[in-house]
Amino acid sequence: MKSISLLPLAAIAIAQHEAPAAQVPLQSTKPLTLDTIPLLGYGTWNLKGDNISEAVSWAIQTGYRHIDCAAIYGNEDKVGPGIADGLLKTGLSREDIWVTSKLWNDHHGTNSVESGIDATLRDLGVGYLDLYHMHWPVASGTFGNSIEYRDTWAAMTLLVQNGKARHIGVSNFDPEQLKDLLNHTTHPPSAHQMELHPYLQQDDWLKFHEKHGIHVTAYSPLAGTNPTYDNTDPTPLLNNTVLSKIAEKRGCTPAQVALAWGMSRGTSVIPKSQHKERITENFGALECVLKKKDVKKLDKLGEAAHRYNNPSKGWKVDLYKGLEDGN
Ligand SMILES: NC(=O)c1ccc[n+]([C@@H]2O[C@H](COP(=O)([O-])OP(=O)(O)OC[C@H]3O[C@@H](n4cnc5c(N)ncnc54)[C@H](OP(=O)(O)O)[C@@H]3O)[C@@H](O)[C@H]2O)c1
Ligand SMILES: *[C@@H]1O[C@H](CO)[C@@H](O)[C@H](O)[C@H]1NC(C)=O
Ligand SMILES: *[C@@H]1O[C@H](CO)[C@@H](O)[C@H](O)[C@H]1NC(C)=O
Ligand SMILES: *[C@@H]1O[C@H](CO)[C@@H](O)[C@H](O)[C@H]1NC(C)=O
Repeated sequence: MKSISLLPLAAIAIAQHEAPAAQVPLQSTKPLTLDTIPLLGYGTWNLKGDNISEAVSWAIQTGYRHIDCAAIYGNEDKVGPGIADGLLKTGLSREDIWVTSKLWNDHHGTNSVESGIDATLRDLGVGYLDLYHMHWPVASGTFGNSIEYRDTWAAMTLLVQNGKARHIGVSNFDPEQLKDLLNHTTHPPSAHQMELHPYLQQDDWLKFHEKHGIHVTAYSPLAGTNPTYDNTDPTPLLNNTVLSKIAEKRGCTPAQVALAWGMSRGTSVIPKSQHKERITENFGALECVLKKKDVKKLDKLGEAAHRYNNPSKGWKVDLYKGLEDGN
């Protein structure tokens, strides 16, 4: 859990600036890389209403140094001011935080990628992204399988050359698609964002990424908790008794246990909440220390894999072929 190293730094900062604990880690002297990416990030899908900026700013004030955005979330123009406000209130600068965004399916193709990132940079009010993902291996209007993502990827590599993205990655690729991409580029993805939580553990898939040096970010780390998912079966993760018992024993909350488990696997986790107390609670996952036997028990929860996010039918494309609970 590399991000834990932020905490002692925060303590030093308190002594210097007399600011609340989580608020002011020392500013980084080196640019963030995927070796130093803060493992606990803040998700922004479904942030809506009139306090989006406030929620994002609160996350940064709480200590989050990694914000996960996407053009399709339709809120980057509100997330951006939240980032600016959070930086202002903590005295941090752009370089101190990790900002990820994603290219939507309607901006695939050689000539559309750059306008996709330009709109995101403008809305977020930042000069560069730390990480830009291809959100799906699917261009809008593509029916059936397509290798179009190769061209989109080639266009994305130019964004690293022109400095608009420091790293580029993919999201929601299946093994065939990722291997095909690796075979057709000299610039392998630096990161892959995918659904991962105790109900969908994808160990082998994770190992593949380790082998290839591709960082993995776990989305929907609280499993079906997001109300856009059908969370009736299995038991909602945060109500799961295995999780609750571990939480009680270690003095954590169930959400903190789920997030600590994710980070213990080396993945970054990006929980979303629009509520101050939950934003703070989730950040506390950095201090939730699990024992080996806890992790073993949690590993068992993955035996009946359950995937919540699968737009395959609506889009009429195969997704997640060969993966746990895939098509
Ligand atoms: N690449 C992709 O295709 C993709 C797909 C899905 C998600 N993502 C990214 O991953 C992020 C996280 O995934 P997600 O938003 O699907 O789900 P999530 O973070 O696992 O769960 C979010 C839901 O849990 C609730 N919640 C948060 N903390 C809680 C807590 N401590 N106790 C109880 N409930 C809690 C939130 O409610 P409130 O907000 O009301 O507190 C929200 O409804 C997204 O925001 C997005 O950035 C990416
Ligand atoms: C945002 O507004 C909602 C609805 O009024 C409220 O429940 C939530 O606590 C607010 N969040 C923040 C960060 O102010
Ligand atoms: C990638 O290239 C390797 C080596 O040529 C080959 O064995 C493999 O089948 C290719 N994979 C895909 C998905 O094209
Ligand atoms: C899960 O826990 C919440 C909060 O304690 C409760 O409101 C909800 O009814 C529970 N859901 C199930 C399916 O047990």
